[in-house]
Amino acid sequence: MALCWKFRKEKEIWKIVNSTQDHLAPDYFSGNLRTISFFSYRTLKKATRDFDKKNQLGGGGFGPVYKGTLDDGRTIAVKQLLVGKSQQGENEFLAEVRMLTSIQHKNLVRLVGCCSEGAQRLLVYEYMTNGCLSSIISGKNMTFLDWKTRFQIIIGIARGLQYLHEDSNLRIVHRDIKASNILLDDKFQPKISDFGLAKFFPEDQAYLSTRFAGTLGYCAPEYALRGELSEKADIYSFGVLVLEIISCRKNTDLSLPLEMQYLPEYVSSYLHLFLIPFNGDIDVYHIFFGLNTFKRLTFMWSCNLGSII
Ligand SMILES: Nc1ncnc2c1ncn2[C@@H]1O[C@H](COP(=O)(O)OP(=O)(O)O)[C@@H](O)[C@H]1O
Ligand SMILES: [Mg+2]
Repeated sequence: MALCWKFRKEKEIWKIVNSTQDHLAPDYFSGNLRTISFFSYRTLKKATRDFDKKNQLGGGGFGPVYKGTLDDGRTIAVKQLLVGKSQQGENEFLAEVRMLTSIQHKNLVRLVGCCSEGAQRLLVYEYMTNGCLSSIISGKNMTFLDWKTRFQIIIGIARGLQYLHEDSNLRIVHRDIKASNILLDDKFQPKISDFGLAKFFPEDQAYLSTRFAGTLGYCAPEYALRGELSEKADIYSFGVLVLEIISCRKNTDLSLPLEMQYLPEYVSSYLHLFLIPFNGDIDVYHIFFGLNTFKRLTFMWSCNLGSII
């Protein structure tokens, strides 16, 4: 009798679950982790109007990203991973998603759900209203960032990185810190995106070559030349990013005069002028900015711009 009741109950639960297009994923998302939504492919297809090109926000090394709207009105960003069936099984994918959902910080883009159906592997993120930093830096988006906002963005990215490197339960090296991976919410708070995505791809894949080498202009020399990967690679990229934010220009701009084309090179030729008044004393910088986070910035400057500090 009890068994019969249990059977009916389970059947009813599954009926309810299956009758909704998206539902909370079963056991693999339980425990002390935040539960995430498990979307059906049909739901995401509908939300993005059949992955309409007009809804495409961009297409990086991991696959295209589409803007979408769910039936409940929530706006989302859907990343369609370029992972073939053979690359990763459903359980492995779900295990990785489960791991990523345990990583939460106000300066990391929130993963709201995923879809794994047949060969399809999709990740669903909260939509960031102010898009990515690269469109502001490259001038595509005419938004002007005042100094306070720029500072807020720099500090936010540093905090997100510190969390990934030191404070999260997993130690994650992002490997692809760049302006297009910094998204801005409605208050221009920065959020790092694409963290942990390398986990979905084996490192020896050919199409990962851009990923493995990072992105031109942001890649730390020891990583590009010798493949040495550590948190320092992210700090180097962060340094390039800080220069881009301060100067509001791309790290490489071939339309400029030769000596100005590569931002880190250009800045390093002027850096000695900047350091003279402070007599090379980094404590002055700490007081000046009044934030411990600036230690990171000075480290980054030293990584990027030679042996001046
Ligand atoms: N959650 C999101 N909210 C808003 N826009 C996003 C979101 N995720 C990605 N994008 C946009 O899609 C673009 C492409 O993203 P991505 O596939 O990560 O490629 P890449 O980082 O190499 O440009 C980003 O530059 C950004 O403009
Ligand atoms: Mg990205």
